[in-house]
Amino acid sequence: MRACAWLAIIALIPWTSGFKVEDFKRCSDSAFCTRLRGSSGEAYAVLPNSVAVAGSQISAQVKHEASGALFQLAITAYEGTVRLTVDEADPSVGRFHVPEVLLPELPQQERPWTKVSQTRSSLRASLGAAAVELGYSPLKLVLNVDGAPAVTFNADSMFAFEHRRAKGEEDPEGWWEEMFKGHRDSKPKGPEAISFDLAFPGVRHVYGLPQHASALALPPTTGLADNATSEPYRLYNLDVFEYAVDSPFGLYGSIPLLWAQRLGLTVAAFWLNAAEMYVDVEHAGGGVRTQWVAESGVLDLFLLLGPSPAEVSRQYARLTGTTAMPQEFALGYHQCRWNYRDEADVRAVDAGFDRHDIPYDVIWLDIEHTDGKRYFTWDAALFPEPEALQEDIASRGRRTVTIIDPHIKRDPGYHIYSEAARLDYFVKDRDGKEFDGWCWPGSSAYLDMLNPAARDWWAKLFQLDAYKGSTPHLYVWNDMNEPSVFNGPEITMHKDSLHFGGVEHRSVHNLYGALYHNATAQGLLERGTAVHGEDGDRPFVLSRAFFAGSQRIGPIWTGDNSATWEQLRISVPMLLSIGLAGLPFSGADVGGFFGNPEEELLVRWYQAGAFYPFFRGHAHLDTKRREPWLFGEAATERIRVAIRARYAMLPYLYTLFQAAHAEGLPIMRPLAFEFPGEAWALGADDAFMLGPGLLVAPVLEPGAAQRALRLPAPGPWYSATTGEAAAPGEHTLDVTLDSVPAYLRGGAILPFKERARRSTGAMARDPLTLVVALDAAGAAAGELYVDDGRSFAYRRGVFLHRRFEFAGSVLTSRPAPGGGGAMASGVTVERLVVLGLQPGREWGAQRDGAPLDVAPGPLLLRPGLPRSALVVRKLGLPLDADWAVTFLPGGAVA
Ligand code: NOJ
Repeated sequence: MRACAWLAIIALIPWTSGFKVEDFKRCSDSAFCTRLRGSSGEAYAVLPNSVAVAGSQISAQVKHEASGALFQLAITAYEGTVRLTVDEADPSVGRFHVPEVLLPELPQQERPWTKVSQTRSSLRASLGAAAVELGYSPLKLVLNVDGAPAVTFNADSMFAFEHRRAKGEEDPEGWWEEMFKGHRDSKPKGPEAISFDLAFPGVRHVYGLPQHASALALPPTTGLADNATSEPYRLYNLDVFEYAVDSPFGLYGSIPLLWAQRLGLTVAAFWLNAAEMYVDVEHAGGGVRTQWVAESGVLDLFLLLGPSPAEVSRQYARLTGTTAMPQEFALGYHQCRWNYRDEADVRAVDAGFDRHDIPYDVIWLDIEHTDGKRYFTWDAALFPEPEALQEDIASRGRRTVTIIDPHIKRDPGYHIYSEAARLDYFVKDRDGKEFDGWCWPGSSAYLDMLNPAARDWWAKLFQLDAYKGSTPHLYVWNDMNEPSVFNGPEITMHKDSLHFGGVEHRSVHNLYGALYHNATAQGLLERGTAVHGEDGDRPFVLSRAFFAGSQRIGPIWTGDNSATWEQLRISVPMLLSIGLAGLPFSGADVGGFFGNPEEELLVRWYQAGAFYPFFRGHAHLDTKRREPWLFGEAATERIRVAIRARYAMLPYLYTLFQAAHAEGLPIMRPLAFEFPGEAWALGADDAFMLGPGLLVAPVLEPGAAQRALRLPAPGPWYSATTGEAAAPGEHTLDVTLDSVPAYLRGGAILPFKERARRSTGAMARDPLTLVVALDAAGAAAGELYVDDGRSFAYRRGVFLHRRFEFAGSVLTSRPAPGGGGAMASGVTVERLVVLGLQPGREWGAQRDGAPLDVAPGPLLLRPGLPRSALVVRKLGLPLDADWAVTFLPGGAVA
């Protein structure tokens, strides 16, 4: 019986060949997109007598001339952001407003409009350097920044808001029912789509709208450009098998945030709407024009006014929050595979890392570890002693992750199912019966995470006494939460399924995965408090699906990529775009999930992946084993070097995460984020910045002997491998299989830990090296953030945050602006490496008048310092105290 069910599932799984484009909708397969894409000219007008300005809000009524339907419009001013909302005037229509995404404290950021002037046909109001002009008929909104138009709403009259109507009034095709590949969508509410256009004058580069496997600078989708895709970018969370690259098709996560960057100005638009959405991009009239269409919900549009890239990131973070502060182990290397067979296999892999002297932090267990895909259970034959296994792994400072998916096997004997069914916590089908979809366990029900009670109940399942076989060292992976439904339309849930409060899945779809992710993280949070007390334990939950706000919960990864060079290449722009959308903690499966990477591809993937914010090797069930030591000694050594380099960078990376947590800045950044004045850098995506201080240009081509690279001005740059200085401009680098081109930015100070250890935990008390990369004026600055790497004690000030500055040949350590914290870390600065001191002179160094040990020495990733570098050794400088080291020309110290 079980074998039969298993065969039936296999037949349903669409995983037998490559990406099947016909399984997924194009715009023309959706009635709403067909109706509204490219359509313009519907007349909507503001009713002049309805316009009112009160404090931070401009409000007005808008009329659709043809139908007489009325809408309520509001334009709200926030610090650096303007929000435009349009909903039906009659609130009893009850259209869906996306919950849980905006920060509750957002209302406190409202700012009053100033300098309002009004006529019978328009209204002008200003907000700092920005001003809005609302044109009444036709409805139009122009946003100026520093006196020049930055964004225009409805310049092309594509605004359309399909008001709620009764069935029978009109009945054109696709209004009240539509079909896709045999699946019926009953559409009980009829047409309810929304469309609008946004124009960005003077802009040639738009980014964002993840998740798509496409270039960072989004190619146009309409118009005459050669690279126009002809399909709009689709935002609809989907489980796509072997996804194609350079494609506008929707993938596992969606963030409806678009960046527009030109020299001197970066702005962004964020539409808070979780329904299926399409966005067209057209290059026209010396700028970019976009059309946005969503199937339901309301218009809730935030225009972020920059003007710098960093300001846009901060503005978006003020709306949706910043990334959760991760545990330090989460930044180490993760070893995953579908599946590590049994306990002996897990122990052997764990031991393999030690045998080969390769650090790693987390071993992952995929779905086969469970009893018949019943999550929160263990296969008793394969994993008879899960607690002992986790404890053993933890004894070496490492963690275990298990997978927990949102589909629940419909087995009355399975306690999770029976209890959730009794409590009525599952999504319903259109007839009000429990939704029944097929996934790994066969017939499955799906938790309704729109129901707050279901979320609370779910969170409690992670307590140690509820999750049998779990320990405090166990963390979680949420997969298939788009949600994936093997026998559903487009391998997901029917849009007319019903959630808590009678909300159709249609309106919630892109949010579903994030709600589930959040409920899981809440569970680990509560477990952490139960186990560790008030300071708790920071949750770690990886999710495949994501939405705006997911950054507050935990990391995501880019799903089921393949072991191909093009997938390695596309991982960089994909992660850059996700980072710009406020979600910095992300990575791609290193090695490629499907298929078997050849040695060179695997090595190159580790070299690039060592710079992904989330660094995990993963592989499909049918692939050959590919632990890092299985490809011969030369490959093992290269992978070892790459992973060790990652561990050496952890103090810098952790400091970047703290900045991301505090301010919302991305970790992996496009060059144009850091160098917005470099015209050529706009859209560049084959190299990137890791934080402000490190430029990474991974080799992404097979058989490469050379790698072209352009370094932004002003420089200088210093090779992270050799310390050699490099000038801004174009370079052709000779590369070997060992080459990982990376450059320290002149003007930056980066903290590293250089001792090779087995895990992050083992490094906690290791001393630091500060690498001081001087700019042309002989100055540099940087920060270091340290806390216990695990708990929330940092919220009570238990951390150290230092700022290092090199100026006038003196390096100082002081508390970072905003507070240096206090913590007994036991960590010291052991070495200083100064790059860019005036050549041709002997340099010495002293502290408090005493000479210090100065010598040349090896640099980070590989040995071989240039003569111009100066190394000060055996320092033992305390982290928690102010100090100064003075550099003196002339060798001898005065
Ligand atoms: C799909 C996920 O994307 C993949 O990473 C995982 O291994 C399989 N599901 C099995 O759980």
